Amino acid sequence: WILTVTAQTPTNIAVIKYWGKRDESLILPVNDSISVTLDPEHLCTTTTVAVSPSFEQDRMWLNGEEISLSGGRFQSCLREIRARATDVENKEKGIKISKKDWEKLHLHIASFNNFPTAAGLASSAAGLACLVFALGKLMNVKEDHSQLSAIARQGSGSACRSLYGGFVKWIMGKEENGSDSLAVQLADEKHWDELVIIIAVVSSRQKETSSTSGMRESVETSLLLQHRAKEVVPKRILKMEEAIQNRDFASFAGLTCADSNQFHAVCLDTCPPIFYMNDTSHRIISCVEKWNRSEEAPQIAYTFDAGPNAVLIARNRKAASLLLQRLLYYFPPSADTNMNSYVLGDKSI
Ligand code: DP6
Repeated sequence: WILTVTAQTPTNIAVIKYWGKRDESLILPVNDSISVTLDPEHLCTTTTVAVSPSFEQDRMWLNGEEISLSGGRFQSCLREIRARATDVENKEKGIKISKKDWEKLHLHIASFNNFPTAAGLASSAAGLACLVFALGKLMNVKEDHSQLSAIARQGSGSACRSLYGGFVKWIMGKEENGSDSLAVQLADEKHWDELVIIIAVVSSRQKETSSTSGMRESVETSLLLQHRAKEVVPKRILKMEEAIQNRDFASFAGLTCADSNQFHAVCLDTCPPIFYMNDTSHRIISCVEKWNRSEEAPQIAYTFDAGPNAVLIARNRKAASLLLQRLLYYFPPSADTNMNSYVLGDKSI
C-alpha cells in the first residue's frame, strides 16, 4: 500500500526583514519580522509526501531531480514532525499506521515550484513550509499552524511565515530552546486585498552569497546589525502592525522601503561587504522614489531580498498598471538592463 498527501504553499515577502540569527542550529533570529504571503497561484511550491512499507529509504525529488536529504535542516524538520506523529487510519484502503510505526517507515517526497528555480526567487520559504505542512498532515500531527511554524523555522527561518496567508509576524521569542520563536497571523488575505505585488526579475542568476552565510557574516562583523536589531526594528514592528491594521499605505510604504534599504546597508556594513542589489535595482529604487514624491501620496513600496530582483507593492490596481507600463518603458526586456520578465501579483492587470 501507499498513502500520500499533497499540499501547496505560497512564498512570502518580508516587509520588515529577518537578517541575523542568535542561534544558528535552531534558527532563532535577532529580531522580529513581518511578511506578506503571496496568492497561492503565484510563486508556490506543491509537495506530495508518500509513505509505503516498500520504501527502503527516505528520498526526495525537487522539480523532478533527486536531491540529497543528508542536510541537518531537513533532518531536524523530519525529526520534529516524526516525534509528533499520531495513529493514522485509512479505512478505504485498509491501512493502519500506529504512532510507533512512523519511526520505521520511509518517505518519498516530490516537490515542484511553479516558477523557475533559477530565477533567484526560489526562496526556501515556500518549500520548507510546504514540506512540514504535508508531513504534518500525513502523520496526523495535531499541532496548530503556529506550532508547525516553529518546526518549519528549523528548515529555513523565513519558511515559518509561509504557514499563514495575509500578513504574518515571526516573533523572535526569548526561550533558548526556541519554543516561543514562531509565526502568528496579523491579518488574513482579505484584510487588505487592493494591494498588488509585482516582481521585477532583474537577474535570473543565482545569488552569490546565500542568505545563511550572508547573515552569519553580518552578525559577526556589522555594528549596524546590532543597532538595527535592538533599536530600530522593535519600533518599526509596532508601526508596521499599526499601518497594516489601518491599511495606511503611506506608512506601510515608508516602513517597507526604509527597512529594505537598512537591510542592504547592513549588508554593506558587513566585512567583506555583501552586494545583493545591482545598478538596475538602484535605478528601480530611484524611479519609485521619484514617482512617489511626484504624487500626493506614495503609490508604490519596494523591497529587495538577498538578490537584485525588485518586489514592488502597489497601493491598488491602477497604480500597479501604471507601474507596469513604466517598468516596461524604462527597462525594456531587450535592453542591457538584463531585466527580462515580470511575474505579476495579479494576472488580470
Ligand atoms: C533577506 O530564511 O533564507 O529573505 O534561515 O538561513 O534559511 P535561513 O535564511 P532565509 O533568509 C531570508 C532572508 C531575507 C529576509 C526575510 O525573508 O525576512
